[in-house]
Amino acid sequence: MQPISAVQRVPIALGDRSYTIAIGPGLLGDPAAFAEAPPAATAVIVSNFTVAPLYAQRLADALAGRYARVHQVVLPDGESFKTWETLNLIFDALLGHGCDRKTVLYALGGGVVGDMTGFAAASYMRGVPFVQVPTTLLAQVDSSVGGKTGINHPLGKNMIGAFYQPRLVICDLDTLRTLPDRELSAGLAEVIKYGPIADLAFLDWIEANLDALLARDPAALAHAVKRSCEIKAWVVSQDERESGLRAILNFGHTFGHAIEAGLGYGEWLHGEAVGCGMVMAARLSLCLGLVDAAFVQRLTALVARAGLPVRAPVLDTQDNAGRYLALMRVDKKAEGGEIKFVVVDGSGTAQMRGTPDQMVREVIDQSCAT
Ligand code: NAD
Ligand code: GLY
Repeated sequence: MQPISAVQRVPIALGDRSYTIAIGPGLLGDPAAFAEAPPAATAVIVSNFTVAPLYAQRLADALAGRYARVHQVVLPDGESFKTWETLNLIFDALLGHGCDRKTVLYALGGGVVGDMTGFAAASYMRGVPFVQVPTTLLAQVDSSVGGKTGINHPLGKNMIGAFYQPRLVICDLDTLRTLPDRELSAGLAEVIKYGPIADLAFLDWIEANLDALLARDPAALAHAVKRSCEIKAWVVSQDERESGLRAILNFGHTFGHAIEAGLGYGEWLHGEAVGCGMVMAARLSLCLGLVDAAFVQRLTALVARAGLPVRAPVLDTQDNAGRYLALMRVDKKAEGGEIKFVVVDGSGTAQMRGTPDQMVREVIDQSCAT
């Protein structure tokens, strides 16, 4: 792969809520990267105890010429802290600093910080602007783009939230250098996702370049982030509020969310649960006659090569499939208690389908055994 130098820009077309995703090295500390961010007197950087020591000062310095005051809020780190209590820490800080309705929030971190900061921005004084500065691969390729914000509830993942778009997304590829290997793999799950649902040529590219991605080759990462953002921008610009098409972005997520909630948030990473969930959803697609066994094998091999689990965890030793089904019935895609799954057809398109419980049970049993 050739080294990259230029900043790549992916537009996301949403009328008067359109914005740019900027992708490149060294952006976090570059004041020019934030030229499109809303002006205001005050900015507040929201981060966590892991990311803030690494990057918050660099970002604060880059923002210093643009805002008279730059405050920081540092949250506890982890999916188990994606809660009302943690959200309130953001509101405490905003109110404590006397932040007005023009204050700009900056989400500096992974998807947990991004989702919570976005939800805080959506609701503080009924809405203040926010900018995403994602520092995990998962957040750069998925969660920072598209305006889904929110927190978890003990009974269901991401159950409380709002659609609320950022004004700008700054993906500094250099931040991926400090990401733990396990988190890099988790991000690759969401990269892989885009292939089966939207772009088989991208799936081919990921297979051919997986070793480079795992080795953090800058050009490979730049392409993966850019192509993922392009696909996500294409989907979101057609169906911002998930009345149809956008649901395809949840390929693997129905099973994955059940794994996360069933094991307890944080036990498996979100990307790990999605990786395994995609294998389960591919098996379901096979049961429905939409793909052949070779496609399931291909996806399973890729997910495993990315360092992600392909065997599903047992959630209940008495009635495991029943536990999965109960958890999946609170999925946001469920309608009148009927669970809807995103299934694929092997040609780069996906659709939503309700399926008989017995078929889902067989997929769960098979996936927990192999
Ligand atoms: P995360 O936010 O928990 O970050 C993973 C870990 O990496 C954390 O410990 C974090 O502190 C650390 N970290 C972040 N950047 C780092 C860096 N550069 N160097 C070192 N450590 C770093 O997890 P995630 O995988 O980024 O995001 C998962 C969350 O995103 C889940 O809550 C999921 O529901 C959500 N999500 C949301 C959307 C959406 O559309 N809004 C889409 C996908 C996922
Ligand atoms: N990650 C799913 C979505 O943004 O719709």
